[in-house]
Amino acid sequence: MSSDSLVSLHSYQFLMKWLVENPKFLNNPLYITGISYMGIVVPVVTLEVYKGNERGNKPQVNIKGYSIVSPLTDRFIDFNSRLEFQHRLALISDEIYESTKQTCHGNYVYTDPSNTLCSNDLERVDECTSGINYSNVLEPLCDDINPAPACPAATKIVLDSWANDKDVQKALHVREGTIEIWEKTNETIHYTLGKNDSASYSYDIFSTIDHHKQLTTRNCQVLIISGDHDMTFPYVGTEQWIASLNVPLESPWKPWLVDSQVSGYKMKYAKQGYTLTYVTIKGAGHAVALNRPKEASAIVDGWLASHAYLSDS
Ligand SMILES: *[C@@H]1O[C@H](CO)[C@@H](O)[C@H](O)[C@H]1NC(C)=O
Ligand SMILES: *[C@@H]1O[C@H](CO)[C@@H](O)[C@H](O)[C@H]1NC(C)=O
Ligand SMILES: *[C@@H]1O[C@H](CO)[C@@H](O)[C@H](O)[C@H]1NC(C)=O
Repeated sequence: MSSDSLVSLHSYQFLMKWLVENPKFLNNPLYITGISYMGIVVPVVTLEVYKGNERGNKPQVNIKGYSIVSPLTDRFIDFNSRLEFQHRLALISDEIYESTKQTCHGNYVYTDPSNTLCSNDLERVDECTSGINYSNVLEPLCDDINPAPACPAATKIVLDSWANDKDVQKALHVREGTIEIWEKTNETIHYTLGKNDSASYSYDIFSTIDHHKQLTTRNCQVLIISGDHDMTFPYVGTEQWIASLNVPLESPWKPWLVDSQVSGYKMKYAKQGYTLTYVTIKGAGHAVALNRPKEASAIVDGWLASHAYLSDS
């Protein structure tokens, strides 16, 4: 039996043991990163690292901050923000949007089945959006059984054969027999909206907004990136929970460029020792780095290079 909390705890314990065994890395600045569902885990692990340092745990970790891409943060805000996103991207009409907002009272996720007006509106929304690729609304919707000609060969297969290759496993010092088959996505555990706990996994962290909030009082640098065509966890919801952290805005929404072209938009929040940079990447979907590798590296490299410790030493 595992869970969001256990995965987070084990990640922290792994990090501590790994640093004990590899002390030459102890002085390196550490950032904890992840994408997508790791928006549930990364803030929890990061906060635990700060608290561990504050409790005097050994070794002291040279933690500097964290970065999350296309994160799931709050199971209400993020899924609920899909409706507004669908409206902004012209997937649903003004009329459908306004009517659904009214009949469902702003809740399109955990709805009351006896509210038939809301259910009818959500059916109209579904008719408009169920044929759309959630990972990137501009990409074709592909089906495992009947892939459309426009669909790229699945990267999953390549990754799976790489991770299951005996030579690869040997090179990575994977202990034989610990896991029989490696899968990119284990569908038994993989979270989808409305999925219930199973005998093997409990989705026991509903939201990590409070963890983010606690981190705003630490010496911590944060980078959050969204692809603005991602409907899985739309930038609309991400912007909303970031604003709810109530950190003063240092630099408002403005375009950023790569090769003199607007590549997305950027804003920065800051207070004593804490900064949060929020970046959208124009045209990217859920898999930001896959969709816009050059722009994604420019953002991450620029963010790392901007930190004070580089000039401290
Ligand atoms: C959505 O598009 C991406 C990028 O082309 C593709 O990898 C993915 O398989 C598509 N997803 C679905 C559900 O069709
Ligand atoms: C997927 O996860 C379940 C639950 O933890 C586990 O029993 C199963 O072995 C996993 N599948 C693979 C192929 O590892
Ligand atoms: C989850 O559990 C609830 C209550 O038992 C049930 O109504 C719902 O259909 C379940 N959802 C799924 C996806 O199985």
